[in-house]
Amino acid sequence: MFNFSSLLALVLVAQLVAAAPCDIYASGGTPCVAAHSTTRALFSAYSGSLYQVQRASDSGTVNIAPLSAGGVANAAAQDSFCAGTTCVITTIFDQTGRSNHLTQAPAGGAAGGPDLLAAADGAPVTLNGQKAYGVFISPGSGYRNDKTNGIATGDAAEGLYAVFDGTHFNGGCCFDYGNAEVSADDTGNGHMEAIYFGTGTGFGTGTGSGPWVLADLENGLFTSPNTSGVTASNPTITERFVTAVVKGQPGNNWAVRGGNAQSGSLATFYSGVRPSNGYNPMKKEGAIILGIGGDNSDSSQGTFYEGVMTSGFPSDATENSVQANVVAAKYAITSITSGPALAVGSSVSFHVTTPGFTTRVIAHTGTTVNTQVISSSDTSALRLSASWNVIAGLANTQCVSFESRDTPGSFIRHSGFELFVNANDGSKLFHEDATYCPQAGLNGQGNSIRSWSFPTHYFRHFNAILYAASNGGPSDFDATASFINDVSFVVSAGLA
Ligand SMILES: *[C@@H]1O[C@H](CO)[C@@H](O)[C@H](O)[C@H]1NC(C)=O
Repeated sequence: MFNFSSLLALVLVAQLVAAAPCDIYASGGTPCVAAHSTTRALFSAYSGSLYQVQRASDSGTVNIAPLSAGGVANAAAQDSFCAGTTCVITTIFDQTGRSNHLTQAPAGGAAGGPDLLAAADGAPVTLNGQKAYGVFISPGSGYRNDKTNGIATGDAAEGLYAVFDGTHFNGGCCFDYGNAEVSADDTGNGHMEAIYFGTGTGFGTGTGSGPWVLADLENGLFTSPNTSGVTASNPTITERFVTAVVKGQPGNNWAVRGGNAQSGSLATFYSGVRPSNGYNPMKKEGAIILGIGGDNSDSSQGTFYEGVMTSGFPSDATENSVQANVVAAKYAITSITSGPALAVGSSVSFHVTTPGFTTRVIAHTGTTVNTQVISSSDTSALRLSASWNVIAGLANTQCVSFESRDTPGSFIRHSGFELFVNANDGSKLFHEDATYCPQAGLNGQGNSIRSWSFPTHYFRHFNAILYAASNGGPSDFDATASFINDVSFVVSAGLA
């Protein structure tokens, strides 16, 4: 028989199950005042735009929304809009209704600008099996909002969480998400309160070699009151997906927390007083940054999937519920390549598809990577110079690296966005410069060979020299004319 109170209970249970991170923060009395994600809605009722992408072919834009209220982003809408061209993320919309949107960061005290925009397809993942894209920040890119509404200022309380790629980081300053200066300049200790993720070692660190979840409080990355040395309770992060938390409140109190975004709970890495030299009381200014430092320092890298800023100091229990929600979203990796497969262990040659140049293949002369007219009737030495061993990507085994057939131990790598054949020096930077994720050819033929670390950049022949070029970027070799053809190569078995 119909029973109103059990129906009510069912509805309440359904609401609890469906609660999204910002519903949970609101229930805890610390509502979101900024909520950013390119992967999913952070309110269970949110069905508005998550982010905007712009394509290079006609400069058109499209806003990407969740598939349903509270759901995962409609990645298929992006894929069809960006087919046959390249796209960047222009805006990450604030889901709170406060218009705290993130857009291209302007010049700041530490670096000129505007910063570069992230490739729209640089960080594919799945959430509960549905494809979505994160924000893959390469050095030089970043997002910002200097005119916000409702973000904590001065010593006011706030909480932040974000979900990052735990395997994408460096030691550059500063892959941050959170509260920063409204002037894009360093205005002193305590003028920032942002989550930092990376291996920056200039100040206090966690244990091991990093990366760590730290807090950028301006003029220092901290995880305790100590301004140098190791905080034993803050571990090196080894998970693919990491949940990172920073919060602060009046009375000289703050905390850093973190955990595996795919399972388990959050640990408290530090909770207590702030560093003593100018960080109490705080002088927060209320701008929002992503992927850069408060003064627009932009040499860092990392990947952002979702994050919020709250009004008020969230309880650990509230954050633990948010972590449970993140785990339930089931972030998982998915293929980051497309088009014809380049089998690891094979030897390949790359044939130019640009009309008028199709007799040319990618070869090298010394360290210079170029195109030359080489065919199966040429000498073994010439054919070897145009043949490459495909090996598992040195920086990411989901992608590949290309070893020179005639110079074992040397690989195609980009440096200054020109391609070179250089010996592998074993460094993290070399491995990243030498890792490429083949995509379906942008002109419909073969493959386009995209840089893993700079996914707006592709192998491109230009005046018979090979570059890692971006469509419409600042260099002559980035020219949009002929770009789509110049970055598309038919990949055959190696000529030698
Ligand atoms: C701060 O440094 C001191 C001295 O090295 C150390 O004893 C203390 O444990 C450190 N504090 C934290 C929170 O790690």
